[in-house]
Amino acid sequence: MSSKPAANNEMVRKNSKDKISVNQVLQQADSFISTDEVFSSVTEWQEMMTKYNCAIREIRTKFEVLNDELSIRSNRNPIHGIYSRIKSPRSIIEKLHRKGLDLTMDNIRSEIHDIAGVRVICDFADDIYEIADMLLMQDDIKLITYKDYIRAPKANGYRSYHMIVETPVFFSDGKEMMKVEVQLRTIAMDFWASLEHELRYKKGLDKETLAEISADLLNCANTIADVDNQMMGIKDKLYPKFPDADE
Ligand code: GTP
Ligand code: MG
Repeated sequence: MSSKPAANNEMVRKNSKDKISVNQVLQQADSFISTDEVFSSVTEWQEMMTKYNCAIREIRTKFEVLNDELSIRSNRNPIHGIYSRIKSPRSIIEKLHRKGLDLTMDNIRSEIHDIAGVRVICDFADDIYEIADMLLMQDDIKLITYKDYIRAPKANGYRSYHMIVETPVFFSDGKEMMKVEVQLRTIAMDFWASLEHELRYKKGLDKETLAEISADLLNCANTIADVDNQMMGIKDKLYPKFPDADE
């Protein structure tokens, strides 16, 4: 048994400069797991990701419905945009590794809560709380956790409202509760977060430049929070509040 992976490593090393064809990969994999096992794992992975995709669609639809309804009732669209993504296989594997967990479907399902991600961009900061509450009031939505980085911003200036929610999705063989990470933020917070995200992945910056950019970003985050507050004040003078659900 133990000689097989070693032989396999040798083969990978020999071929490492060349492009390896799918057949070669399958042949190599076959030396310690069967091709059938590879295919059944791939199918299981695809099935799971399809389920998360369906959960994203359910949550997106809920936000779209709220936005449509509120836009008729108060003459403005509280939601500026909705974006979604499925976590890449690489990020899933890296996250499990960081948590010291084995790569198993059970661990992915129970320990990684952000495989399905939906980001809701609002025009105004107070809409974030209204929209989040309206989602949570729905009886097929269960709140698992939330983090309010708006009332308690991160030290670097990051602001957003995060929730992990669970929603049932109906498949041919029954109902499954699926977790979705929802991030709500204003346009300005989103602009800031995209730039700050670039900084995280930028390689080769010296210490001083990094400190300078971090200080600039913190400054910008505070200015943005100020502007978001002022914009909210203008909005309150222009538009009526969203009516309560029972009004
Ligand atoms: P992750 O393991 O990174 O998912 O973080 P977490 O499980 O502790 O959850 P948290 O709610 O803090 O962050 C979830 C996600 O929010 C991240 O994956 C990012 O997309 C975003 N986020 C959190 N903090 C920051 C930040 O400081 N800057 C930016 N740009 N994004 C952030
Ligand atoms: Mg994440």
